[in-house]
Amino acid sequence: MKNLLSIEKMSRADMDKILAASGPMKKERDHHKQQPLAGKTWAMIFTKSSTRTRVSFEVGVRELGGQVMFLNSNDIQLGRGEPIKDTARVLGRMVHGAIIRTFKQSDVEDFARFSNIPTINALTDDEHPCQILTDIFTFEEKCGPIQGKVVTWIGDGSNNMAYSWIFAAAKLGFEFRIAAPKEYQPSPEILSRAGGKIVVTDDVKAAAQGADLLYTDVWISMGQEAQAAERIKKMAGYQINESVVKLAKPGALVMHCLPAYRGKEIDEATFEAHAQTIFDEAENRLHVQKAILDWIVT
Ligand code: CP
Ligand code: NVA
Repeated sequence: MKNLLSIEKMSRADMDKILAASGPMKKERDHHKQQPLAGKTWAMIFTKSSTRTRVSFEVGVRELGGQVMFLNSNDIQLGRGEPIKDTARVLGRMVHGAIIRTFKQSDVEDFARFSNIPTINALTDDEHPCQILTDIFTFEEKCGPIQGKVVTWIGDGSNNMAYSWIFAAAKLGFEFRIAAPKEYQPSPEILSRAGGKIVVTDDVKAAAQGADLLYTDVWISMGQEAQAAERIKKMAGYQINESVVKLAKPGALVMHCLPAYRGKEIDEATFEAHAQTIFDEAENRLHVQKAILDWIVT
C-alpha cells in the first residue's frame, strides 16, 4: 500500500512516475480511458482552510470515477478531541483513501499507519508535497528538465513549502537558493537531512542573480497569525518585484503557490505580469494530483 506523506520520504523513482503521468492526465482530461477510483470513496479531512487543494482533489477524485467526502475536522469528533489513531481506524474500515490537511506532520503519518488506507498529505506545518510536485511539473512543462537549474526562493525560508523544495532539490538535482531574514532561514537540521545544493543567504539580490525560477509564498502561514506583525516587519524587503526579476535569467519564471498577498511577498505589477504562469501552476494541481491518485491506487 502506498502513501504520499512527504517529499523527504518519497523516492526519486516515484516522483518521476508521477511527473511523467501528469502530462497525459492533463491532455486526456474529460476522456480518461481508465477510472482507477471507480466504486471507491475517498475522505478529505481538513483542519486548515483551502481553495486550490480542496477543489482540485474533489474534482480529481470524481473525474477518476470515485466519490469524495469532505470532512471539516471541526464537524467530526476529531475536532472535539477524538484521537487521530481512533479516527484513522474507523475511516480505514469505511473509505478507500484519505487526503489530509492539518498542522502536525505526525498526525498524517499516524493516520496512514492506523488506517491502513492510502493517505495523502495535503499540507502540514512541515511539508506540502502535492504543491511541490505540481510546481516541478509546471516548470518542466514550460522550460524542460529542472535538473541543473537554479530555483530561488524569496521570503519565509522556514515554512512547509520551503522545506518541501529543499528536499526536492537534492532528489532532482537542481540548485535551491533561499533568501530570507536570519530568523526565517531553514534549520541546519533540515539542511543536513536533505543534502543537495542549497544556498542560504539574507541577500535577495545575490540569490536572484541568474535564477531560472523565482518563487515565493506567504510570509504568514496558516497557524502563524499571532506572529503577523513581527513577520511583516522582519520580512519587509524579501519580496519578488521588478528589480529582483531583472537580476534573474532573461525569461525566468515567477511562480507562487497562492494565495498571494500583494505588497508583501510579491508586488501587484510583478504578480500580474506572471499571472499566466501562476494560474497554469494552480490549474496543474488538478492534473498532477490525478496522477498522484492513479499512482497511489495502482
Ligand atoms: N496552494 C494551496 O495549497 O492553496 P490552498 O491553500 O487554497 O489549497
Ligand atoms: N505556507 C503556506 C502555504 C499555503 C498553501 C501555509 O502553510 O499557509
